[in-house]
Amino acid sequence: MSKIKKNFVLEGLEIIDTSTDGKAIAKHDNLVVFIDGAIPGDIVDVMVHRKKNSYAEGKAIKLITPSPYRVEPKCEHFGTCGGCKWQSLEYDRQLYFKQKYVTDAFTRIGKLEFEEINPIIGNKEPYFYRNKLEFSFSNKKWLTNEEIKNDVEIENKNGLGFHIPGLFDKILDINNCYLQAEPSNSIRMAIREYAFKNNLTFFDIRNKTGFLRTVMIRTTSTKQVMVVLSMFENREEEMHELCSYLKEKFPSITSLLYTFNPKGNDTIQDLEIKTFHGKNHIVEEMEGLKFNISAKSFYQTNSEQAYELYKITRECAQLKDTDIMYDLYTGTGTIANFVAKSCKKVIGIEYIEAAVADAFRNSEANQISNTFFVAGDMKDIFTYEFVNTHGNPDVIITDPPRAGMAPEVIQVMLNLKPKRIVYVSCNPSTQARDLALMEDKYKIVRVQPVDMFPQTAHVENVVLLELK
Ligand SMILES: C[S@@+](CC[C@H](N)C(=O)[O-])C[C@H]1O[C@@H](n2cnc3c(N)ncnc32)[C@H](O)[C@@H]1O
Repeated sequence: MSKIKKNFVLEGLEIIDTSTDGKAIAKHDNLVVFIDGAIPGDIVDVMVHRKKNSYAEGKAIKLITPSPYRVEPKCEHFGTCGGCKWQSLEYDRQLYFKQKYVTDAFTRIGKLEFEEINPIIGNKEPYFYRNKLEFSFSNKKWLTNEEIKNDVEIENKNGLGFHIPGLFDKILDINNCYLQAEPSNSIRMAIREYAFKNNLTFFDIRNKTGFLRTVMIRTTSTKQVMVVLSMFENREEEMHELCSYLKEKFPSITSLLYTFNPKGNDTIQDLEIKTFHGKNHIVEEMEGLKFNISAKSFYQTNSEQAYELYKITRECAQLKDTDIMYDLYTGTGTIANFVAKSCKKVIGIEYIEAAVADAFRNSEANQISNTFFVAGDMKDIFTYEFVNTHGNPDVIITDPPRAGMAPEVIQVMLNLKPKRIVYVSCNPSTQARDLALMEDKYKIVRVQPVDMFPQTAHVENVVLLELK
């Protein structure tokens, strides 16, 4: 066992891999060291701040030899902001490690049998890919090293941006973010400037005071823009003044909404959303299908790659017009509606009621009449009794959350023996675990990773299973 303790510097470690959450990995004696602030190929000195028997965690404090895969990060906030941690790793290499993650999960966690994993489908544009960003206001912004070094008293500590990882009350004031296309940056900066000029107060999370709390900006490929402002103190008149300013300055905003949120958390799901200007929703389009997205709706955050993902899912499902298809964890029914015309009937199950209401609305708006959606917990809804009522599935598409599927849901699925299962996952580790439970009855025929989140370690993976 290694003799190192915490707060100890390990010198000259070579980064050989990445972890599932995007940390760099090196080995020291028999110890696996998880490191922040380095990328594969780097040789670094590491300050260890946590040490267990088989692993340690630390931060790179000195770059001895830079990786050949290093690139200059685009963003001035790189290293402080919690997002885009892989920005210093060239995009092709990011894709290589995402592909490797899927392979490792399938071989090590699932110990699965499969022929090959298709090359990951990358983004044409690895920046500006998000259609939604949420920013928080804070009266105690995170001070950058430069601001601290300058040793000048900072009077205005108001900031608008992202949470510092692990610090719930600290917000990094963002000047420029490369994740969402314009007018996202301009809108955020204009709100900040207006708030400064008009002495509007920013949320104080500890003392629970302040006017402005969060702002969400959503954009679509159809060039619609939604802005949702939330206030902690209910000052409707001041909110109207801010909205009037935004409406005039940004004619491209098609939905300008606001809400009053006096709760302990930032979620707007349980709040009344008021429309100041335009419609209460924006519309995304895919192959002529229209998807209404309201302030509370879930929609895949990378629209372009979502389309790739859905096309692969549909291809894998190989639906016939006599098929009954179940779309488990359907969200707002996007996959269900996307494939509906290829089969006889689609049943979607999802536990957020508002999402199910959106799913029905999306079918109606697209004159789709062969879909049916039910709200409830999967393990309560997806039962033999339910299937007796709605018909045995010929094909199942399942797209569970990161935690994967409950074993009892997998068991029902196996007993129903659909000829094909398409398993879409945003977490290859839990996907591999679940697939191992299906291996006796189903053969893995296709594995297709898709990159939905460039500059991060996340990867989406589609697997086609056929009944043996
Ligand atoms: C990855 S999303 C699926 C999104 C959808 N397929 C799409 O492409 O838009 C997973 C969905 O599962 C839902 N969910 C999570 N746990 C659930 C459960 N136990 N029962 C039913 N739905 C659940 C979530 O609310 C979420 O909408």
